[in-house]
Amino acid sequence: MVLSIFKKFDDKNGPLLNEVQVSRDKSINPEDVQDICQSVGWSWREPELIRKALKNSVAVISVWHNGAMVGFARATGDQVFNATIWDMAVRPSYQGQGVGRLVMFEILRHLEDDGIPLVTLYADPGTDGFYRKFGFLSDPSGVRGMFRESIGKD
Ligand SMILES: CC(C)(COP(=O)(O)OP(=O)(O)OC[C@H]1O[C@@H](n2cnc3c(N)ncnc32)[C@H](O)[C@@H]1OP(=O)(O)O)[C@@H](O)C(=O)NCCC(=O)NCCS
Repeated sequence: MVLSIFKKFDDKNGPLLNEVQVSRDKSINPEDVQDICQSVGWSWREPELIRKALKNSVAVISVWHNGAMVGFARATGDQVFNATIWDMAVRPSYQGQGVGRLVMFEILRHLEDDGIPLVTLYADPGTDGFYRKFGFLSDPSGVRGMFRESIGKD
């Protein structure tokens, strides 16, 4: 699967992708993560908590252009059986130029290098088509994602 993604990635490597840098560094500045997440409309999160989340993630991929973070994703997991991708974001002015594909390719390659067989994620409305390009299926064999958020104490 990853090989076919790689082929497609090579075929579609536009001019921007020759100028970007890819990093696996988990100690990136949380403010940069905050900034890219806010650029796509996600809510503000405490930078110190972002720092902890990055440190505790099993994979962190960031893509940089002219010193700015333009693409990001991270994954959590047990480092053996499975991992879940979170916070996949491309800065709006960089969308539609292959940066999202690059981030997905790099994070899947990272997890493949680590021998993780099962990768899951939660697709925001309107993004399933993007993830399907990397082999993700919704509800395989009828399996449904379920969610429980804790209710804060007042
Ligand atoms: C979804 C997102 C990550 C895509 O990143 P991107 O850099 O624009 O994507 P790319 O340019 O690399 O596109 C790769 C392929 O996916 C397709 N694609 C991109 N966004 C898509 C979408 N929302 N639905 C279906 N296909 C999509 C592209 O057409 C392209 O197809 P191709 O390979 O056939 O040419 C980006 O739009 C984004 O950050 N959105 C806001 C945040 C968000 O919703 N993140 C997902 C949270 S679950």
